Amino acid sequence: MAYSDKVVEHYENPRNVGTFDKADDSVGTGMVGAPACGDVMRLQIKVNESGVIEDAKFKTYGCGSAIASSSLVTEWVKGKTLDEALSIKNTQIAEELALPPVKIHCSILAEDAIKAAVADYKQRHGASQTEAA
Ligand code: FES
Ligand code: FES
Repeated sequence: MAYSDKVVEHYENPRNVGTFDKADDSVGTGMVGAPACGDVMRLQIKVNESGVIEDAKFKTYGCGSAIASSSLVTEWVKGKTLDEALSIKNTQIAEELALPPVKIHCSILAEDAIKAAVADYKQRHGASQTEAA
């Protein structure tokens, strides 16, 4: 099966590969796995004081579509608020990358990774807010 040009382009030039320090207060880390194939994606977001995602990084152990999906979403979440990032749908990712049906779960992995990273960030920050209340 051939990959679309956009998948190949992201696969060959992945954006924002890397890691932030998990202990950094401004970082949210999402780690998700695909039951269908056993692949793993880690997405990290760095959030500024106004609640806007100013940077994102990923590491993905998976197929070309999974790598392209995570590379794409690191670009998409930048400049978005947490809630805006949560509104990114796997269907948008699949459409942008022209993923075939058997690769839709790769885009779902990317959507889940965003949700997990935002949830991690909120949980860590919610905890301190509860203390203050
Ligand atoms: Fe698992 Fe492609 S087969 S990521
Ligand atoms: Fe499983 Fe891509 S993440 S085939």
